[in-house]
Amino acid sequence: MSNELFSNRPEYRDLKAHAAETGGVAIKDLFAADSSRFEKFHVKIPGLLFDYSRHRVTDKTVALLTKLAQACDVEGWRRKMFSGEALNNSENRAVLHVALRGSTDKTLTVDGESVSGFVEDVLQKIQKTSDRIRRDKKITDVVNIGIGGSDLGTRMVYRALEPMADGPHLHFVANVDSAAIDGVLKTLQPETTLFVVVSKSFTTLETLANAQAAKAWLGRNSVEDHFLAVSDNVKDAKAFGIAPDNIFPLRKWIGGRYSIWSAVGLPVAIAFGFENFKKFLNGARDMDQHFLGSPLDKNMPVLMALLGIWYRNFFDCRAHAILPYAENLEHLPAWMQQLDMESNGKSVSRDGIALNYATSPVIFGEPGTNGQHAFFQALHQGTDIIPADFILNAVSKPVALNANALAQAQGLMEGRDNPGQPHRHYPGNRPSSVLVLDRLDAYHLGLLMALYEHKIFVQGVIWNINSFDQWGVELGKVLSNDIAQTLEKKPIMGQATDRARSLLDYLQSRSS
Ligand code: F6P
Repeated sequence: MSNELFSNRPEYRDLKAHAAETGGVAIKDLFAADSSRFEKFHVKIPGLLFDYSRHRVTDKTVALLTKLAQACDVEGWRRKMFSGEALNNSENRAVLHVALRGSTDKTLTVDGESVSGFVEDVLQKIQKTSDRIRRDKKITDVVNIGIGGSDLGTRMVYRALEPMADGPHLHFVANVDSAAIDGVLKTLQPETTLFVVVSKSFTTLETLANAQAAKAWLGRNSVEDHFLAVSDNVKDAKAFGIAPDNIFPLRKWIGGRYSIWSAVGLPVAIAFGFENFKKFLNGARDMDQHFLGSPLDKNMPVLMALLGIWYRNFFDCRAHAILPYAENLEHLPAWMQQLDMESNGKSVSRDGIALNYATSPVIFGEPGTNGQHAFFQALHQGTDIIPADFILNAVSKPVALNANALAQAQGLMEGRDNPGQPHRHYPGNRPSSVLVLDRLDAYHLGLLMALYEHKIFVQGVIWNINSFDQWGVELGKVLSNDIAQTLEKKPIMGQATDRARSLLDYLQSRSS
């Protein structure tokens, strides 16, 4: 029996049996039976508390889950990642976003190049450029043109730290919908605007279309003075007209959704200063050290990963809610969607064997307290159990914000009976984690984001999938090119358009 699939492992079968024997135990009864439950089921590191006491777990559950992680060699794969092995096996690439925050051996090389040397050179370039732009004040607005990992991380970090921004204003254009770039450009002046084209491939249709529109908008102003690029494709960036010295390099071992720590984060350094960007990196580095140095059953990312697997694979939970109780973290769920669902939304193993178990859940969420007035009804009384992560900033104001978060976590867990009023029955026993940041600043944000990166990594190891490629996004790109040509009334008719003919006819008739 191949261990390719974790469902073949004895540790999986032990957990299946454990789920059957304990699935009906109410979390509130576990609390009633053990007043020290919080002490047992939380992990604290400087700046961050992870409270997992409101989960359907006992000491035995944690022990069995930890055994699964050991059986899947999580520690061995962790060593492989940090030492630069080609974990992305379908593209034969190393996965070294941890190197960007200084967490790898200084002697590590990839394709003959010193990794730490590359990282240091780029950081110096980021510091020099961001210092210059912030000092000379000619640029009042910076427009990040990119999509996916070339947009979501920077957009989220900028919003999260916005109260601390003291440099040029950042704006974000991702969608190919002209409403996106039109909406941004109408508020700006070419003379005082800098565009940063962020694209690892420099071939992404949306990004190139928006970059061309920005270039046209510049008018007499030179591309050299008003464009920077962040890319692994220097050739095409130069061909676009960007001065070589204005191109910030990426490398194949930097995955798009893991790239905020690279020159992709340049706009962060421009908006908040290089020192804050370094603090952001230091937060991630300290989470790396926690991940590397903590025993599996005291390891935040490992425990979060195992809890996700506990519900996904042993209770068939199909979604997971990300609930940041901080208005400034409003883009965290969107960033997390790409991180989780583009990494682990896979259905074959690393070696191409069809999986017979579930992988990435549907990730969604909104900041609290807004979500309470949108979808919490389903969390409390819906037919599905949807595990949730409540993410709090300890110093949030007013007190009502964190009071709401804790009330929701308690209500989901305890439920409430209203005999004779079934529509007011709260089943409870709905699990959640509570994460508390000491404050929401660059360091603590880096700590939090790296925590989730490692959670996703551990889940990918246990599911035995490649978390670092994204072939699923290629088909849509091919089909859309074909359909676009038809909608532009070109004679070319690809196979895809024949099947969509009637809708295309309608769309063409309405769009002309
Ligand atoms: O969604 C597919 C994807 O390749 C992402 O992985 C990536 O972050 C995004 O598109 C943008 O790619 P690029 O940085 O090459 O423009």
